Parts: sequence; C-alpha cells; structure tokens
Amino acid sequence: MSPLAASNASTRPGTGAPRVLVFAGSARSGSLNKRLAKVAAEAVVAAGGEVTLLDLADHRLPVYDGDLEAAEGVPAAARRLREIMRAHDALLIVSPENNASVPAALKNALDWVSRPVDGQNGLVPYRGKVAALLAASPGALGGLRGLVHLRQILASLGVLVLSEQFALPRAHEHLPESGGLADAKHHATVSGVARRLVEVAARLAPPAPEATP
Ligand SMILES: Cc1cc2nc3c(=O)[nH]c(=O)nc-3n(C[C@H](O)[C@H](O)[C@H](O)COP(=O)(O)O)c2cc1C
Repeated sequence: MSPLAASNASTRPGTGAPRVLVFAGSARSGSLNKRLAKVAAEAVVAAGGEVTLLDLADHRLPVYDGDLEAAEGVPAAARRLREIMRAHDALLIVSPENNASVPAALKNALDWVSRPVDGQNGLVPYRGKVAALLAASPGALGGLRGLVHLRQILASLGVLVLSEQFALPRAHEHLPESGGLADAKHHATVSGVARRLVEVAARLAPPAPEATP
C-alpha cells in the first residue's frame, strides 16, 4: 500500500484533502487494471486528493464462508482491509470484468469488509462514502458490463457511486508496462473522473453516527 500524497487533512467538507483509496479488482502482477489504477491515483493527487494505492495481492482473503466466520471470526486480513476502507472518504475502484460481471476476488473482498466486527455494523466502512469506477480489458467493451454490477453492489452497501465512469477497451494497447496512458484523450477522461470524485468527496457531509449492528 502506498500513500501518494502526505496530508493530515480532515475528512470534513472544506477543511482538507479528501482521502481516496484507489485499488484494482485484480491481484495479478501484470494487471492492466493495476496500471490504470496507478494512472488514476496520480490523477486524484493532481485533483487535490490524498491517495492510498492498495494492491489486493497484499490482502489475500479466504473465500467467504459462514462456517469459517462462525468458527474463527473475520480473518485478520479482512479486518485490516476494513480499517483501511474505514479510514478513507472515497473509493476509486478499477476493475476487470469476468464473464460480464465483478471478479470473484473483488466481490469476496467487498463481502468480507461488509461483515460486522467487534459489534460494529458491517456497513460502517461503506456508508457515506463516494466511489468512482474505472475498468480496463483487452476486450472491445473495456469491462463496462462488470461496472454495472459493481455499481449495484456498492450502492446497496450505502456508497454513492458517481455517474462518471470510464471503461478502457483494448487496454493492452493503451497501458504500456512502463506506465501511463498512451492516449491523451483517455488520460483526460480518467482525470475528469478523478476530479469529480475529489470534488464530491470534499463536499460530502461526515457519515452519520454509527448505527447499531
Ligand atoms: C474467468 C475470466 C473471465 C473473463 N471474462 C471477461 C469478460 O467477460 N469480459 C472481458 O472484457 N474480459 C474478460 N476476461 C479477460 C480479462 O478482462 C483480462 O484477462 C484482463 O486482463 C484481466 O484484468 P487484469 O489485467 O487487470 O488482471 C476474462 C478473464 C477471465 C480469467
């Protein structure tokens, strides 16, 4: 996990830089979505946000299983991820599409984070947050269909999901290993999404007091 801009800014409107957690929905080392996430993270910083760039590969989780949870509780890795999400004002998720939907690793992480911990309502890391969605795929639709499902999942968790989004088709041609985005128009679109996210996060009221579990 790497913070891209240091700040002790508060999350309250008008008092500091919104804290944005950026991550890809792929743990793969050569992930195109991780490459796009890095571009997006830099765009968030340029827009005035404070960024943490998270790698799901550093947060390996077992597949959610109610018996496992009952026997052992929420795994330490899921608790850590939950705390990280709780500490941010906004999410920027850059996700591949698997069979026209959300990749299992991403859904699994969102599910574990939604579980109650130490008597705290499971939705606390989500409620009152704002999210922006991006996708990258070698395919012609850029992962767009997966974002439809991801949007629905996040909305049901209490996240305000921005209408602005971007799915990058033929991503292998546009995201060089060396970094950056080859096409200036794509870069401008990603920057626009990042700017909107920072703008909305800065205006959001603090989350409501925690509800009972
Ligand atoms: C099981 C599976 C299903 C996939 N389904 C889709 C799909 O529905 N649409 C699509 O555009 N790409 C699909 N792909 C291709 C992925 O988008 C491609 O592997 C992408 O590079 C994965 O993201 P990453 O590079 O960030 O790891 C699929 C890949 C796998 C392994």
